Amino acid sequence: MNSYAYYNGKFGKRDEINIPLSDRSIFFGDAIYDAAIGSFDRILWEDEHIERFLSNAQKIGINHSYTKRFLSDLLREIGVKSMIKSYFIYFQLSRNSSNRTHSANGCDSNLLITVTPIKITPHYSGLKMITTDDKRYGFCNIKTVNLLPAVLSATDAENKGCDEAVFIKNGYVTECTKSNISIIKQGRVVSHPKTNDILPGIAREHLMLCCESLGIEFEERKFTKKDLIDADEILVTSTTKLCQCAEMIDGISVGGKNPILARKICENMYDEYADFCRINE
Ligand code: PDD
Repeated sequence: MNSYAYYNGKFGKRDEINIPLSDRSIFFGDAIYDAAIGSFDRILWEDEHIERFLSNAQKIGINHSYTKRFLSDLLREIGVKSMIKSYFIYFQLSRNSSNRTHSANGCDSNLLITVTPIKITPHYSGLKMITTDDKRYGFCNIKTVNLLPAVLSATDAENKGCDEAVFIKNGYVTECTKSNISIIKQGRVVSHPKTNDILPGIAREHLMLCCESLGIEFEERKFTKKDLIDADEILVTSTTKLCQCAEMIDGISVGGKNPILARKICENMYDEYADFCRINE
């Protein structure tokens, strides 16, 4: 099986699951989501992903009765049912109402989950990126499905033969379309603070823990596009890619000035995933 899905109690192949038009993710993008990787009945950094999901649902006031325990059991059940050994699991909570009415009072919720295969490889370097204006709105800290600026910028990057687009807001680097970005400068890791301008990435949090365990200073402060281009190394983090270094931004060669430290960090992050896989064997 190469895809599996769940919607409000129904399990099946992804293409067999139908979503009704009363699901407000369709007309309004009125939904939050999270995305993780799993293996058999376990999900990497499960607690953090579920906690962020529930906290985001609360931030936009979605009524639901899902507990952390229920979601954990369900995600694991779906992972096993999918029969996919190494998978990407997406879970979304949207509001549900019979009419297309902007106000969201009195709505129920819908839970959607999809599982697809994923291959995680220890690939630490070589990312090519473009920079682009951050045209997103003020809720970047909430993982909502309103992803149009990210979609357009990711498409632009791909059309230019690149892997990611880096958002620049008022001269400062915020994050990328689907990952966080940090730099290494003079032996310390610098990352945008956790404001409304970035998603508080779970891999970014593990990058911070990794720095702590390796005795590397992790500084949360804004940095400019020039700081990015001049950085010793550029680290891109996400749950699906773990940690990778960039080598090219807007056609300019970047990073490569502290490869030993950058590799140490990337390997440390990958080792955590490798340990997770070993426990499941
Ligand atoms: N994206 N920033 C943005 C805008 C993201 O969309 C993501 C993840 C991240 C990294 O977050 P995390 O470390 O928790 O994966 C940062 C996921 C993978 C997605 O939308 O599919």
